[in-house]
Amino acid sequence: MAESDPDASAGRIAGLDTSVAHPARVYDYWLGGKDNFAADREAAERVLAVAPGLRFRVRANRAFLGRTTRYLAGEAGIRQFLDIGTGIPTGDNTHEVAQRAAPDARVVYVDNDPIVLLHAQALLRSTPQGATDYVQADLRDPGLILERAAGLLDFGQPMAVMLLGVLHLISDDEDPWGIAARLMDAVPAGSYLTISHPAIDIHKAQPTVQKVYNENVSTPQTLRTRDETARFFTGLELVEPGLVQVHQWRPDPDDFAPEGVVSAHGAVGRK
Ligand SMILES: C[S@@+](CC[C@H](N)C(=O)[O-])C[C@H]1O[C@@H](n2cnc3c(N)ncnc32)[C@H](O)[C@@H]1O
Repeated sequence: MAESDPDASAGRIAGLDTSVAHPARVYDYWLGGKDNFAADREAAERVLAVAPGLRFRVRANRAFLGRTTRYLAGEAGIRQFLDIGTGIPTGDNTHEVAQRAAPDARVVYVDNDPIVLLHAQALLRSTPQGATDYVQADLRDPGLILERAAGLLDFGQPMAVMLLGVLHLISDDEDPWGIAARLMDAVPAGSYLTISHPAIDIHKAQPTVQKVYNENVSTPQTLRTRDETARFFTGLELVEPGLVQVHQWRPDPDDFAPEGVVSAHGAVGRK
């Protein structure tokens, strides 16, 4: 679709604005996906030019999603997941990882980008014992997300709230800490919060990366310090090893994780 439709270059396709780069499609390009358009690829390449390790970083973020979800569905016994800022479906989506460990796991996906809705079918292929749902909603409206997620998830039972690679797309003015707290207030004790957040304080080139991204992509990003990311977990108990660079969170023995490349912090906290 992205390559062949002449409408795409004119900025019109299936209700999408393809004339400006969007975070979900830029991320898809960095991951090696095909659901992106010329404007996305140009923006993605400009950022890559100042962040040569970026393709590895996005894979490390996906690997963190996989390991944390496997931990939650396995060792922690969690059966419900609320994955906000899902992204375009790729390999090992949350329900696939969770249902490998627990076939009866239920997952609600949330994203505000119409391209994710367009590909949501791939997120809805659940095991027969489990279930998945997709909600088109904005993280800045947590009340609507909670209301719609209650169609599938039981808010009387523990669940994992997942905010991976999305909080940096909410500015300080929009109070991402308040939004995360509102979501965690709605879930019972024994629930978990998983976050990965690109960092401003790991590599010195990061302010330049942020500037180039914000000059080229529709939604600006706010990279944050480790302390700012730690604030999202206020009042929660961090699962070992705590808040670390994402590749350092319970790595698998065969993970490819050279030190000095990854530039995001991540953790899992328990309510
Ligand atoms: C960088 S991708 C991360 C995808 C996935 N969570 C991961 O970690 O691999 C960010 C996703 O968040 C979505 N997003 C950005 N702002 C959002 C908002 N305000 N509400 C809901 N989703 C949002 C984007 O559309 C995109 O799909």
